[in-house]
Amino acid sequence: MQNAGIARLGLNWRYLAFDVRPEELRTALAGARSMQFVGLNLTVPHKLLALEMMDVLDESAKTWGAVNTVRFEGRDRSGAWRPLYEFEETPPEKVRMHGFNTDADAIVRALREDLQVELEGARVVILGAGGAGRVAALRLAAENVSELFLVNRTLSKAGSVAAEIRRRHLNVKVQLGYPRGEVDLAINATSLGLLPDDPLPVDGRQFSLRQAHAVFDMIYRPAETALMRSARAGGSRVANGLGMLLYQGVKALEIWTGRPAPVDVMREALQRNVYGS
Ligand code: ATR
Repeated sequence: MQNAGIARLGLNWRYLAFDVRPEELRTALAGARSMQFVGLNLTVPHKLLALEMMDVLDESAKTWGAVNTVRFEGRDRSGAWRPLYEFEETPPEKVRMHGFNTDADAIVRALREDLQVELEGARVVILGAGGAGRVAALRLAAENVSELFLVNRTLSKAGSVAAEIRRRHLNVKVQLGYPRGEVDLAINATSLGLLPDDPLPVDGRQFSLRQAHAVFDMIYRPAETALMRSARAGGSRVANGLGMLLYQGVKALEIWTGRPAPVDVMREALQRNVYGS
C-alpha cells in the first residue's frame, strides 16, 4: 500500500519492513535517524515503547498514548524544524524524531467512509476492551456519540475504560453491558473471528445483531467474518477493518510527504496484498 502510494506520488522512496526486537528499538530508531530515513511506522509492541524515545510528540500520540508513525525532521538555518525530505542538498546536522498516532483517527474515517455512520449523537456498542477497544471507545467519545455500551469478557477492563471516558468526556453516557433497543453501530474490537471456529463476539441471548443498524468488525481477514455474515443477513450495513489499516497508512504517508495521499491506489494495493485480488 505504501509503495503503491509512493510510486503514484512520483517519489524515489521505498517502504521496507524490518523485524526489530523490542530491546533493540532505541538502536534501530537511532540507525534510521543516522541513515536519514524520511519516516517510519511502528507496530506492536513498539508503539508504546517508542513513546519515551521521541524528541517531540504530536497531540495525537499524547492523546492515545502510542506512536505508530515517526517523521524525522531537521533544523534549517533559521532554526525551524522541517521534515527531512525537504532538505534535498545538504542534510541537516541535527535531526529529531517526531512521533504521531494515526490509528485512532483511522477508526473514525473508516466508520464514516466505509459504513456511512453519523457518529455525533449515535448510540454505539463496543465489544472488547483491550488495546483496540479502549482507543475506539475513547475516540468515539471524542466524536460526541451520545451513548456508549461497553461489553468485555473481563468486566473490570470495560470498567476502567468506562471510568476513563467519564473523566475525559462528561457529555457521553457510558454503560457496561449490552444495550436495550436499537443502536446505530456495533463494533467488534475483540479477537473473536480471527479463527474459523471462533464463536460470535456477541451473546445472542442478550443482544440481537438486528438491533444494530451498522456493524463494524475490526478484523479484516477473512474479508467477511461470521459476525458480518450474520449482521448482513439481519439487514445491517457491515464493513470489515481493512479501512482502519488503509486510513492509518494514508495519514502516515501524508505526514511524511506533506501531500494528499492517493487513497484509491493504496486501497487497491492493500486489497491485492491482503486478499490476492
Ligand atoms: P487488541 O490490542 O487487538 O485490542 P487485546 O488488548 O489483547 O488486543 O484485546 C483482545 C480483546 O479480545 C479483549 O477485549 C479480550 O477480552 P479480555 O479483555 O476479557 O481478555 C477479547 N477476547 C480475546 N479472546 C476472547 C474470547 N475467547 N472470548 C471473549 N473475548 C475475547
